[in-house]
Amino acid sequence: MGEVSDTTGVTDAGGGVRLRPMTVEDLPAALDLEQALFPEDAWTEGMFRDELSHPSRHYVVAESGDRVVGYAGLRSVPPEGDVQTMAVARPLWGRGIGRALLTVLLDRAEREGVTHVFLEVRDDNPRAQKLYADFGFIRIGVRRGYYNGADAIVMRRTARPGQGSGEEGNP
Ligand SMILES: CC(C)(COP(=O)(O)OP(=O)(O)OC[C@H]1O[C@@H](n2cnc3c(N)ncnc32)[C@H](O)[C@@H]1OP(=O)(O)O)[C@@H](O)C(=O)NCCC(=O)NCCS
Repeated sequence: MGEVSDTTGVTDAGGGVRLRPMTVEDLPAALDLEQALFPEDAWTEGMFRDELSHPSRHYVVAESGDRVVGYAGLRSVPPEGDVQTMAVARPLWGRGIGRALLTVLLDRAEREGVTHVFLEVRDDNPRAQKLYADFGFIRIGVRRGYYNGADAIVMRRTARPGQGSGEEGNP
């Protein structure tokens, strides 16, 4: 992970990839990725626009050159937050972009005083589950039939007192 610039909101994620806040101009590219990566549960443009219009939502894109290659979103209503979505273009998987996106979201949550971050992940998606577990998320439940053709694993990450980041684990 590179450094975050407080003035621009741009983060150098390494390997020529930068993270920056998502805007509506990014939606065509984000929708293409959405269709490719979530064929059964793809969000619509309206859903993205609705998310971007909420002050409690914080969306970032990963950009390589001028191409959007990933995105992620946070719902932040302290003391709780949710990872709303996360996606990285398939050819670039395994290069740390997912970690960089999640780090930016969790840093934002920490700055806003979020102590409990929740998310749902398909039970047939071990790659994402492993990523979340690496960041200290633990499995707290199952939502049957939450997705088309899959249950959702509900995960939670709890910050330690005096420390927004719970990367070392949970209390
Ligand atoms: C989940 C996803 C966002 C991860 O993005 P990524 O850029 O590949 O993630 P990273 O390169 O930062 O890797 C993070 C972790 O993912 C897992 N991972 C990465 N490549 C992997 C591979 N080839 N096989 C298995 N797990 C892998 C590992 O746990 C890895 O941690 P490690 O580097 O310590 O081994 C991406 O795979 C994706 O977009 N998947 C489809 C959409 C999705 O499932 N989104 C999450 C919905 S809840």
